[in-house]
Amino acid sequence: MNISVFGLGYVGCVSLGCLARSGHNVIGVDVSETKVNQVNSGLPTIIEKDIDHIIREEYNKCRISATTDYSKAILDTEISIIAVGAPSTATGHLNLQYIFKVAENFGRILRAKNDFHVIAIRSAVLPGTSAKFADIIEEYSGKKRNIDFAVVANPVFLRKGTAVHDYHNPPITVIGSDHPGAAEKVASLYRKLPAEVIITDVKVAELMKYVNNTFHALKVSFANEIGNICSALKIDSHKVMEIFCADKELNISPCYFKPGFAYGGPSLPKDLKGLQAMAHDNYVKTPLIESINTTNEWQVSRAVEMIQQTKKKKLGFLGLSFKAGTHDLHNSPAVMLVEILLGKGYEIAIYDKNVQVSNTGCTHKEYMDIHFPHLSKLMKVQISELMNESELIIVNNSEKEYTDVLANVEIGHPVIDMVRLPEAIRQKKNYKGINW
Ligand SMILES: NC(=O)c1ccc[n+]([C@@H]2O[C@H](COP(=O)([O-])OP(=O)(O)OC[C@H]3O[C@@H](n4cnc5c(N)ncnc54)[C@H](O)[C@@H]3O)[C@@H](O)[C@H]2O)c1
Repeated sequence: MNISVFGLGYVGCVSLGCLARSGHNVIGVDVSETKVNQVNSGLPTIIEKDIDHIIREEYNKCRISATTDYSKAILDTEISIIAVGAPSTATGHLNLQYIFKVAENFGRILRAKNDFHVIAIRSAVLPGTSAKFADIIEEYSGKKRNIDFAVVANPVFLRKGTAVHDYHNPPITVIGSDHPGAAEKVASLYRKLPAEVIITDVKVAELMKYVNNTFHALKVSFANEIGNICSALKIDSHKVMEIFCADKELNISPCYFKPGFAYGGPSLPKDLKGLQAMAHDNYVKTPLIESINTTNEWQVSRAVEMIQQTKKKKLGFLGLSFKAGTHDLHNSPAVMLVEILLGKGYEIAIYDKNVQVSNTGCTHKEYMDIHFPHLSKLMKVQISELMNESELIIVNNSEKEYTDVLANVEIGHPVIDMVRLPEAIRQKKNYKGINW
């Protein structure tokens, strides 16, 4: 394929060399004549392991060249990779002037092109940028996106020092597109790489780079705080983190990665507090670990706000325990939510199959009467009672009984969902998820 690469910096130079190595003819474009001259002399524009001989070999095979002339690069190629920089501004926002300058130039040149052109944005850009890029092209070219051209988000996951290796061994390949043909064309560039190609929504793809890098920063800081605690206790921090990473079931896994309601239960809040108290006693600062509970409390506040916004006063809670399949109310975020709303004067009905069942066994009944007398009397025996009395249903755990009722009964109640109910319920009118 004939491919153009805009921006011959880190990402652009690696893309130029590696795409040529895969057998494509690649032309690089940059505003810097120095970089263009370097490529046209068979030299890389960056210092990076293996890139010099790749550029040299592909240059000798006449598979790579470079230019400052946009027109030649766009008219002679069918796919363009955008790899210009998008640095931070002083306020932390992205400076998109270079990217949008490229879009303007693209628009002017695409005006004269009859063939369909695919543009893959590899620069790290926030959601909405690819759409804006396409708007600018439409404005300057008079052409229509997804008819004359398509803009695809294709974030890159390269690390300096191992960029060529990372290009050939990506963790995944992500392509965000609303044009299946364009997505497939970009995917064909990477099909031979040993990584899953995930084609998804444009905004999802755009966000991925930021989610990944934020998580990587979080991992480093978490390991450092644990390391600092270990060091104060004269415990080998590397042994601790090696064992931590050996747990691929709960630790290094998709477990606990589903957006939803706050955590609770007998263990997480208690153990988090215990670790924090011990760090404090040993004069170790752990701002990241301390912020976890703040985020958790915010999630309860978010639910309160969502409920208040509905302006409904009679609330029905499905589920009170901290998760499905248990009657345990220890640090249940649903209990916290109900208590806040009771304090604000809402009328509340609660149905929780497990808490209800346990009420018949005296141990739990006693526990409820001692610790939650204010909630005990709000409990309904039948789910139908709650449905009849409530104007708004709040679903706090995913017991099958609740999803069955919400899926099958044609209820007009609005629903606020903390647990991501099945899609059939999510499609209903007046449904809202806590963060989806
Ligand atoms: N460097 C990395 O390790 C890395 C990894 C993943 C993603 N990214 C992202 O990729 C993007 C590019 O990063 P980089 O490190 O390659 O940037 P860079 O600064 O090294 O290179 C950008 C290049 O774009 C050129 N350029 C600027 N305006 C131009 C224009 N109008 N037309 C043509 N060329 C133009 C510049 O001259 C420069 O050579 C950024 O968004 C970055 O966040 C970088």
